[in-house]
Amino acid sequence: MTILVTGGAGFIGSHASVELLEKGYDIVVVDNLSNSEIDSINRVKEITGKDFPFYQYDLLDYESLKKLFASYNFDAVMHFAGLKAVGESVEIPLEYYHNNITGTINLCNVMKEFGVKKLVFSSSATVYGNPDQVPIDETFPLSVTNPYGRTKLMIEEILQDLYKSDQSWRITILRYFNPIGAHESGRIGESPKGIPNNLMPYITQVAIGKRKKLQVFGNDYETYDGTGVRDYIHVVDLVKGHLSALQYLDEHEGIETFNLGTGTGYSVLDLISNFSEVTTKEIPYEIVGRRSGDIGICYANPEKAEKILGWRAEKDLIEMCKDSWKWQLNNPNGYQ
Ligand code: NAD
Ligand code: WQD
Repeated sequence: MTILVTGGAGFIGSHASVELLEKGYDIVVVDNLSNSEIDSINRVKEITGKDFPFYQYDLLDYESLKKLFASYNFDAVMHFAGLKAVGESVEIPLEYYHNNITGTINLCNVMKEFGVKKLVFSSSATVYGNPDQVPIDETFPLSVTNPYGRTKLMIEEILQDLYKSDQSWRITILRYFNPIGAHESGRIGESPKGIPNNLMPYITQVAIGKRKKLQVFGNDYETYDGTGVRDYIHVVDLVKGHLSALQYLDEHEGIETFNLGTGTGYSVLDLISNFSEVTTKEIPYEIVGRRSGDIGICYANPEKAEKILGWRAEKDLIEMCKDSWKWQLNNPNGYQ
């Protein structure tokens, strides 16, 4: 089985590549390296001891995609490629719409042209907006508050329409909660360019001395300690969910949406204290005002994935902190 991995040089795609190779799949990776480094590809090869083709193509470049599909017989596509920074998407919405939506439409068009109709798509819990209650299940109403989130919701809708038009497609939409952690080798991980937007990479950069202190965005939420609560999930668990989804597509027709989360929420202060315990590093922090667009509490009901895909997250917060830290410690400047 040959799987095309789009965005395979990125944080989640590189971990998925390792998992696919280790489970005996052949892979081909395509990534324009707009938010990643070629080194991550080399390290996936090093971890697995396996070689695979990599193409520095842009999903916006339809002719390159056609060339690629003409050269391989893909069985399925795991589609991670996309821009993902919420704040940036507010600054440059057109780039986000063009890159994420046109990129996905190009991909689906070329898949259609070559008769490849199995797709695993990276969506996000951001499509639930500010939910009325938790835990969040897949039937909750959808709403988005920023262009990034809107690209995910629009793509979900495009995929639903595509399926309606041609029921030979097999599609899983995976809504990730908050992926953190890294491969246990410490060789691949999240390597944000510039100042990290997300909590865990910010914490690890404080721990290694690259940043002075963490700003905690608000302690007046309606949560047990006032700080934001999220469903952090180890990236290796997350990518295992993709392999379960792939297997599901082999056996089932249709389009299905799944939450990929642990079902447990932790606050910002929980994350800081667990991280400090694991690393024995103190994380200096100050409480500041809320970050615009943030919500108080968000965690998954992951039962559907467990029931239908037979997948459940296994790794706890301590392992997530340990592996995030190992990656940061071994790679103080990420891949750069
Ligand atoms: P990432 O930025 O590390 O990886 C995405 C990869 O896609 C990058 O390597 C980038 O260079 C590539 N890419 C972007 N546009 C491209 C294009 N037009 N053509 C080819 N390659 C392109 O991000 P990630 O954290 O690995 O996220 C992977 C996917 O999961 C994204 O679609 C993201 O929106 C989604 N997601 C991520 C999170 C998260 O917190 N990390 C949460 C929910 C959903
Ligand atoms: C987690 C918590 C912050 C940084 C984002 C996207 C979402 C998805 C995952 C792609 C919140 C707090 C953070 C900091 C802080 N990505 N925080 N200080 O906001 O849940 O989700 O990434 O789909 O779409 O919105 O994740 O890691 O940014 O924040 O206090 O420096 O940490 O307020 O409570 P978030 P995050």
